[in-house]
Amino acid sequence: MSERIVNPTRAQALFQEISRWVAGGETSYARQMGTFPLVIARSEGPFLYDEDGQRYIDYCCGYGVNLFGHNPPWLVETVFQTIRTMGPHFAFPHRLYAEVGERIAAFFPSIEQIRFANSGTEAVMAAVRLARALTGRPGLVKFEGAYHGWADPVCVGWGPSDPEARAPESAGVLPEAVAHVWVCPFNDLEAVQACMEAHGREIAAILVEPVLGSGGLLTPVPGFLQGLRALADRWGALLIFDEVLTGFRVAPGGAQALYGVRPDLTVLGKILGGGFALAAFGGPRELMRPVAEGRVVHGGTYTGSPTVLAAARAVLDRLQEEGATLYAALAERTERLAQGIESAMRAAGLVGHVRRIASMLLPVFGTAGSEGVRTYRELAALQDAPRYRRFCELLVRHGIFAHRFPLGRWFLSAAHTGEIVGESLERIARACMDLAREAE
Ligand SMILES: Cc1ncc(COP(=O)(O)O)c(C=O)c1O
Repeated sequence: MSERIVNPTRAQALFQEISRWVAGGETSYARQMGTFPLVIARSEGPFLYDEDGQRYIDYCCGYGVNLFGHNPPWLVETVFQTIRTMGPHFAFPHRLYAEVGERIAAFFPSIEQIRFANSGTEAVMAAVRLARALTGRPGLVKFEGAYHGWADPVCVGWGPSDPEARAPESAGVLPEAVAHVWVCPFNDLEAVQACMEAHGREIAAILVEPVLGSGGLLTPVPGFLQGLRALADRWGALLIFDEVLTGFRVAPGGAQALYGVRPDLTVLGKILGGGFALAAFGGPRELMRPVAEGRVVHGGTYTGSPTVLAAARAVLDRLQEEGATLYAALAERTERLAQGIESAMRAAGLVGHVRRIASMLLPVFGTAGSEGVRTYRELAALQDAPRYRRFCELLVRHGIFAHRFPLGRWFLSAAHTGEIVGESLERIARACMDLAREAE
């Protein structure tokens, strides 16, 4: 990261300057894995423009946040108006609390009451704390490859891991912080059952990303989420759905609507805030009582500011108006893009395929298919990670941005029209040809 660049472009020079002042040149460990160096000057619709004026079709969409594309004028206008009238922040209840709370409950019938947080990480942390308080138990079951933010209690099991070893993912996280976390393979109900039989009386919650978003877009096999629901009930644990990524993405009502399983607590984020720092956790009134009474501490100077809640209300109203047609169009364009990438791979003589669900996809290099793959570990072994990373670097040269995390995902937005998908496919085809040429 710190190597000197001879004759730097404007963006590269700026990145060097940024890196002088900001550790790692970024403010998130995950973004440090992005294609380097891309310094963005502005965004609009499906596009990012860097400091050199280069345009990129963006398939990262602010890490899945921007369902309506970058910088939608109706959203920006609502936020400006709210700031003008209410001010950006005052830290008191205001009418948008109720307006957003009511709208979330309409999309998610499992939620009667909500609390707002500044990030998915904070909201997951609070939900786990609440589950521990409600049950008086320390334990947590999570799944291999699942990402629930970077807080200490869930900083474990992001990749394949030994369930007994439970090493934290970050230096500085005390082993004690994750000592009560059991990491099970996603889609392996028998393993969860065995874990519950061994430790069920200590388990406060089963915490699950209902579709493994950062784990290769693994979808739950039929009966898996239902099985988790039954195991949680049997052992008196809570079932927490982390829908930070899947909420408003796989369906307006999230994965719980798509798969018909009702969790006890739900965590939301990303799309909800329309690009502003907003997440939330909620559930039935009875389960939220310790938070309501202040016995479970949840706070934050900025939580529930008018700015972010105005954005959320605008997003939720837009979803209410456009939901049905929008999700169908996104699914159709995602399918077209996925099929087009597969054709481009074939035409270039590359072995690969594309995983997809709703408006997310992931190109996989090295194998022609992964339909039968159930667990994160199996999928991680399939992806040719160096080739995928190189593909993403070549895409940038051809004006497309996709995050190069090998089991990450591409996101489409409403701004990724048929025309944009068509243009993307031409560019992707050229990147595939370059990749094939390099391998010769
Ligand atoms: C499923 C899931 N949970 C939690 C988080 C953490 O959210 P945030 O980055 O807003 O802290 C993420 C972020 O990518 C996520 O995908």
